[in-house]
Amino acid sequence: MADEPVVAIVGAGLVGSGWALVFARAGLKTRVYDPQPETRNKLIPWMQEAVRDLAEAGLVDNPETLLGHLTVVDTLGAALRGASYVQESVFETVEAKTAVCAQIDAEMDAGTLVGSSSSGIPASRFTEGCRNRAQFMIAHPVNPPHLIPLVELVPAPWTDPDAVTKARALMERVGQVPVTVEREIDGFILNRLQGALLNEAWALYDEGYANLADIDATVSHGLGLRWAFMGPFETIDLNAPGGIVDYAKRLGSMYHQMATDRSPKAWPDETVLKAGAERRANLDQDALAERRNWRDQKLMQLTAFKKKAGLAD
Ligand SMILES: NC(=O)c1ccc[n+]([C@@H]2O[C@H](COP(=O)([O-])OP(=O)(O)OC[C@H]3O[C@@H](n4cnc5c(N)ncnc54)[C@H](O)[C@@H]3O)[C@@H](O)[C@H]2O)c1
Repeated sequence: MADEPVVAIVGAGLVGSGWALVFARAGLKTRVYDPQPETRNKLIPWMQEAVRDLAEAGLVDNPETLLGHLTVVDTLGAALRGASYVQESVFETVEAKTAVCAQIDAEMDAGTLVGSSSSGIPASRFTEGCRNRAQFMIAHPVNPPHLIPLVELVPAPWTDPDAVTKARALMERVGQVPVTVEREIDGFILNRLQGALLNEAWALYDEGYANLADIDATVSHGLGLRWAFMGPFETIDLNAPGGIVDYAKRLGSMYHQMATDRSPKAWPDETVLKAGAERRANLDQDALAERRNWRDQKLMQLTAFKKKAGLAD
């Protein structure tokens, strides 16, 4: 990869627009392509507002130059010209990903790396026919990527290990926190962990053990406080006098029993509707967008605090 990578963002919805901010914020020339003219037109005004918010939270050093690194283009070819890294963020279907990866493959420069934002579909399901398939991998972010730094890099069986090393270095350079998933698994790590928690939360709610607000509070005022700066393994290492092995000896059989008591189950439709009614009684449908904005403001404040407290690495 050249010293000053040029980045192409392909698909500029929720996630692609956040990715554009990530790369431009790091000072890289970033070209953004989306086939929808209205999406392209909304992009710069959205960026201006997002940059203002980031600057207020102390999270950008160069607010006035950041936007200068961004160009919105109206063809895929214009986005890919000279790009050494492509971040694909189109719809989450095998068909959409296969079609766009084939187009990228046909037009990309030799040596260009391509990361897909896919939330759970492994790259082998949509890059097999690509001429440059050794350069394609998953680079799965958390929404919004400019506020949550984690990115999962997941190679397909044919991805060149050197491409993953280079993508990891690029992600670190732009301030993201990459983790490498050694081989493909549906949902990767993040959504499998989230899925395990959600499946149990739905089961507890369905069986009437607590209401949604109390289950949510158990995470936001309990487990989640530690999770903002340490994971489950470090948590249990610190929660028994003798560390993780001691914890497993004391409580491993309890967790095993809880797991064997459960069998996999789809989220029941009726329970989902009941949960919907409970949520809408607390937060009106019309207020969802405002609450998302509130969440992003709080994420910025938390990120700024983590930086100040030396917890950002
Ligand atoms: N939303 C999330 O929370 C989240 C988090 C992590 C990863 N992802 C993943 O990121 C990807 C994008 O999700 P999103 O939430 O931004 O969806 P979105 O619907 O907001 O955006 C998708 C964009 O892709 C554009 N698009 C469609 N076909 C295209 C093409 N051929 N070339 C270029 N652009 C094209 C659409 O016009 C649209 O603007 C998906 O794979 C999704 O699973 C989403």
